[in-house]
Order: sequence, then C-alpha cells, then structure tokens
Amino acid sequence: MLQPNIEVCFSPHSYPLFRGQGQVVVVVDVLRATSAICAGIANGVNSIMPVETIDEAKSYSEKGFVVAGERNGEVLDGFELGNSPYSFMDPKLIGKNIALTTTNGTKAIKSAYQAENIIIGAFVNLGSVIEHLLNQKKNVLVLCAGWKDKFNLEDTLFAGALAIELLRSGLFVTSCDSTRAAIVLYEHAKDNLENFLKDSSHRARLGKLNLEKDIEYCLSINKLNVLPILDKNGFIVKETQQNNVLL
Ligand code: MLT
Repeated sequence: MLQPNIEVCFSPHSYPLFRGQGQVVVVVDVLRATSAICAGIANGVNSIMPVETIDEAKSYSEKGFVVAGERNGEVLDGFELGNSPYSFMDPKLIGKNIALTTTNGTKAIKSAYQAENIIIGAFVNLGSVIEHLLNQKKNVLVLCAGWKDKFNLEDTLFAGALAIELLRSGLFVTSCDSTRAAIVLYEHAKDNLENFLKDSSHRARLGKLNLEKDIEYCLSINKLNVLPILDKNGFIVKETQQNNVLL
C-alpha cells in the first residue's frame, strides 16, 4: 500500500496546485487566526463560521451570532471581537456561535472550503493535530495562510514542526520541496521561535500594536488538547474523537 504523503503550500494563492482528493487540509495561521480559533473552541464556543467579507460577517449578527473581525491586526469598528486568542477565552462565549473574518486566516480556510477534510492547526494544538493525522493515515496538505498571499515564516515553522513528527512516525513520506524547506527552517528555529521570528513581518506588525502577549501565546506549543474541524455545513466545531494524549 502507498504511504500517505505530506505537502506544504506556502500561500492560499497556490492552493489549486496542491489540491488533491481525499487529503486532509491543515489550515494554519499561527499569528493569530487559527490560534484564536483553537482558543475559542477549547473554551467551549459552539461553532465558528469563517467568512471572507466584513459585510457577510455583519449579516450573521442578525442570526444571533457573535461577530468577530480583524483587518491588518486591528479589531474592526463595530465588531464585538477581534482576533486575539485571549478574547476568544471569555467565558461569555461558551455555547455561542461566532462569525469570524480575518485578513488571511479565514481567507485560507475559505480557499480550501470544498476539500473533504479540513482541520485547524496552530502551535497551541500541534499535538492534537499530529494525533489526528496519525490516526487518519491520509495524504496531508498544510495550507499556510501567509500574509496577503505572500509567504510567511511563522506558518512555515508550524508546517515544519508537523512534518517532522509525521515523518518520524514512519507512516508518512514526502517528496515535496516546500515540506523539506519548512523542516530545515523549523530545525533552525525550534530552540527559540520568538527570537527566530523577531524581524518577521507580521510579528513586527503585531508588536507595533502592543500585542506581545498574543504573540507569546501563539508561539507556545501544545497548550490545548483540541482539534477544530470543518463540519459538513461549513462550521468550525470541536472534533469529539480526541484522546488525551499530547506529545
Ligand atoms: C489574519 O488572519 O490575517 C491574522 O490572524 C491577522 C492577525 O494577527 O490579526
């Protein structure tokens, strides 16, 4: 039997080149959309609907959703929430449905929306992502949200960390150069992710907005044992088949 493979797509723009039947797409936007989604789902948020436009997000308010939105790192005017993982930890959100629009993260999720299997990855739930993929034994595509369709470092580091563990299991293979590049970068950065990213573009952008606490949270590994997945109706919900095993 063919072993499942791992590929890494550095930008939503390139997703059509990597799309494949039956693969599990792991969407990652470390800073900060997918970290915030993990924090919300772990907190007990019922569902998160990813939407692309600001107007679409607003329309969900009439349907009783909490509306969350960010552009260029800042909370959108008139929105109840932005994109900080800490705001998604608010106990008031337990049991609520959220409509979320962000600059890159929700755009990346929407670009892969037709895929059969979409899961949400971030450093904070890396162990849960690995565990799920080892159980599924399907081809894996890590879809990096990047920044406005350009490459970014932090999502690539996550892809490298994930690929290392999947290859180490012996169950997966790769012949993908972007996966190899991600692995090399992660090996180089792993002892001090914050320091490695200190001059990276979005880290600098968030730093100017005084969001150091968010950055620190988003770069912490295995804080949460949670796996957000996209359900058949397009909502991000909690995968319920989780064991309590972390790396
Ligand atoms: C995004 O989706 O572009 C990011 O999460 C931006 C941010 O850090 O707020």
